[in-house]
Amino acid sequence: MKALVINCSPVRTGATAEIVKTVCTELSSRYDTRSICIDDYKFDFCKGCRSCHNTAKCVMPDASVILDIMNEFDNADIIVSVAPSYWADIPGQYKAFIDRVTPWCNTHVPHATIKPGKKGYAIALRTGPNMPECERLIGSIEHFYGHLEIECAGHLGLTSVENKADVEPRKEEIISFCKGI
Ligand SMILES: Cc1cc2nc3c(=O)[nH]c(=O)nc-3n(C[C@H](O)[C@H](O)[C@H](O)COP(=O)(O)O)c2cc1C
Repeated sequence: MKALVINCSPVRTGATAEIVKTVCTELSSRYDTRSICIDDYKFDFCKGCRSCHNTAKCVMPDASVILDIMNEFDNADIIVSVAPSYWADIPGQYKAFIDRVTPWCNTHVPHATIKPGKKGYAIALRTGPNMPECERLIGSIEHFYGHLEIECAGHLGLTSVENKADVEPRKEEIISFCKGI
């Protein structure tokens, strides 16, 4: 079984990256585990032309970049999105990616598909102390999973996390969450 762990932050050395590392270490004994950073992929914003609603294909010249990420999704049985709060929602890079995945959205017929039977997990983190903001991010990620027919199998919210050093005291919490994956 294969796991894909996504750093949804553009920061490669911060709290999100540290959580991704912890999750990968924990999962690697049970899954063939791979991680990607959304910011490694360069693509334009969705223009909202809606041609994919009728064709299941994107007309933008950089559509192959989104296909590369979707191939990562398709190769995985388990997908874990790790997202920090940026202004109380997922980072723009991940939101821009989700917009570009509209050819795969199951509200349109025809739509592109990935293989069925995948499980999706969401981990949200933020600097502030209240959980509802994390739940908002989790809601965005699970909404996306739902339209890709990825089963929402679990989520974790981590408050009061600003940088890499704040992850260390939370490792047991993260590892315990990973044991359920
Ligand atoms: C542009 C930006 C916006 C942010 N907005 C929020 C916010 O609305 N609420 C919050 O609690 N933390 C906010 N944060 C803090 C991050 O969620 C927190 O530092 C997280 O650990 C960042 O992880 P990263 O460095 O791996 O991206 C923001 C950080 C940045 C860079």
